[in-house]
Parts: sequence; structure tokens; C-alpha cells
Amino acid sequence: MERVYNFSAGPSMLPVQVLETAAAEMLNYQDSGMSVMEMSHRSPVYEKIIQDAEKLLREVMNIPDNYKVLFLQGGASTQFAAVPLNLLSGSGKADYILSGQFSTKAYKEAQKYGDIAVAGSTKDINFSAVPKSETLNFRADADYVHMCFNNTIYGTKFRYIPDTGSVPLVADMSSCILSEPVDVSKFGLIYAGAQKNMSAAGLTVVIVREDLLGKARPETPTMLDYKTMADNDSMYNTPPCYCIYIAKLVYEWILGLGGLEKMREHNAKKAALLYDYLDSQDYYLAPVAKDSRSMMNVTFVTGDAELDKKFASEASSAGLKNLKGHRSVGGMRASIYNAMPMDGVEKLVAFMKEFAKNNPKK
Ligand SMILES: Cc1ncc(COP(=O)(O)O)c(C=O)c1O
Repeated sequence: MERVYNFSAGPSMLPVQVLETAAAEMLNYQDSGMSVMEMSHRSPVYEKIIQDAEKLLREVMNIPDNYKVLFLQGGASTQFAAVPLNLLSGSGKADYILSGQFSTKAYKEAQKYGDIAVAGSTKDINFSAVPKSETLNFRADADYVHMCFNNTIYGTKFRYIPDTGSVPLVADMSSCILSEPVDVSKFGLIYAGAQKNMSAAGLTVVIVREDLLGKARPETPTMLDYKTMADNDSMYNTPPCYCIYIAKLVYEWILGLGGLEKMREHNAKKAALLYDYLDSQDYYLAPVAKDSRSMMNVTFVTGDAELDKKFASEASSAGLKNLKGHRSVGGMRASIYNAMPMDGVEKLVAFMKEFAKNNPKK
């Protein structure tokens, strides 16, 4: 079977070049006589891989020197607990911006640990936009503010970085990291599950400002304390070795293409093709407010649940996979992360036109 266009929200497509390199190096990584999966994480050959991965990520994202990069396990969901455990140790207060399901889950998890307030929410409009900056309320004595930058399920994204003054801003960037440049210095902490734009599932990256380390609450499990991992260069225990190796290949691929500015151009063109088509017709509806549209996850509906089902099924037969929307919102969702080629989006738009022609609404 040929490779398909995989519009999955995660795990998702990886660049072919990365997969080919991994395949070529599978049995014998750089004359070590073994695969990366089989080698000790304490071996010099593996130590070079993880050190190079960190160096490359710093270069790709232009991460300032006063930030630590941690390669962790447990998925972004583990960070929903790790963030309050590590940071909620001053006033015990934190403010959460609710812009979708994941930020709501993070908010609920944090409530176990202290005085957690809602800084702003768009639940009343079914998260079809992110909260506007002027509607946000922050407490000056909060230990941190939490937000989710790109809302994978709803297809929304913040176009601005909330101004939290001196209160550290924590951002879940699972579904937009590496899609475009971001000013890391505006954040106290960034975290991301790697399975969308960075690697295979099993790796979570945390980028944390050094002054936020060493403040963990006493009950924090050793493994969830950022300082444990920072002091041990993410090697306190066995790290997700193979995923870190794949991430390194992805960072090399991005640099080879010209870095995150180029990545943004590529992603903006793909997203524009899809949104321009959606805006030019009335068969499909794009439910997200224009000023909140995500470049990574594009949601649309026909307005008829049966037609939506037929669309996803026929698209799948045509080699356009995983277009069914998240089970909680229905409709369709095209996740067009970095590795999705322009060609995939062109094929999708052509399919959408054909489907609309062949399935007139009653
Ligand atoms: C924005 C966002 N946050 C958190 C998660 C949860 O990530 P994980 O499955 O790695 O725990 C996801 C998963 O899709 C996500 O898209």
C-alpha cells in the first residue's frame, strides 16, 4: 500500500525524510552494531543523541540560556499535575484560561492542590473562539497563569500572548509547538506532548525558566519534580530514548528547511488553502471564529451528521485518513501539522469539492 495522507490529530504524520533516516539506521546506528532502541541510555553514543537533541531544540526555538529543556514521559496530561505540584507553592493560587477540553482538564487537576480561579472562558460559545485579551482577569499574587495555546479538538489558537505581568505564564503547546516561531522569554514554562509535531508518542518536552525550579511542594513525587530532571539532564531514570532520537531527527529536518520562519510560511500556505476554500462556499461550515483559527487543526461540518459520517468514510477510501472530528464535537477535523505536505491539503480540497457536488443537501 502507498503512504496515505494522515490527518490524525495525534499521533500524526512524521516527515518521510525522518522515517527514512530512522529506517536506514534501525539495525546499526552509526556503527554501534545496534539500534537506538537497544542501547544503554548511559552509553556515550546515546549521550551524544540526547545532548544533540537538546542543542538542536534550543537552536530551532531560540531558547534563552536561562531556560532548562527537559525530556520527560507521561504525556502532556501528566503536566496537568506536575505544573501545580512544582509551581503552586507561594500564594497557592493559580489562574486558568479555559479555551477547550485540555485546559479544562488541567484546571480540574490543579484544583486538587490549591486556590484555582478561572481567568477567562469561552465555554458558553462551545469553545468556538479563544477568550479575548480584554476579558481575562488575573490575580497579581497568583503563582502562575495556565493556558493552552492551540486547542486541538476545537481548532482554535491564541493569536496573542496574554500579558500576565510578573506572574509566570505556563502554556500547553502540544499541538502547535514547532509550527512557527514563539518568543520563549514570554513564558515561565512551556510543555508539549511530542506526538504531533515532534516525535512518536511517549515523549513530553518541558521548557522551564530556571528561577521556577526548586520550589516544588513537599509531596511532589521525585519523578515529577522538574529539579530532579534538570539536575540530571533528563537522565534521572531511563528517558524515552527512541522518541528523543526521533525528535532529534525532526529538529534536523526543520533546520534543514530553514527553521521555524520557513515552517510558519509552509503551514500558513496550507491553512490558507483550506480556509479560503471554506470561506468561498456554503456547503461546509467552519464553526471557529476567524480571529481564533488554528493553523494546525482545521474543523468543519456539513451540518448533517449522516453526511459528515459519509464524508469521513469516503475520504478514508480515497487515502485521506482520520478526518472524523473529535468524538465530543463531531463533524470533521483536518490536522495539518508540519509533516503534512501541501499536496495532501490540495487533495483534501479537491475531495471536498467533489463530495459537495455528489452529495447535494436536501
Ligand atoms: C493541547 C493538548 N494538550 C494535552 C493533550 C494530552 O496529551 P497526552 O495524550 O500526551 O497526555 C493533547 C492531546 O491530544 C493536546 O492536544
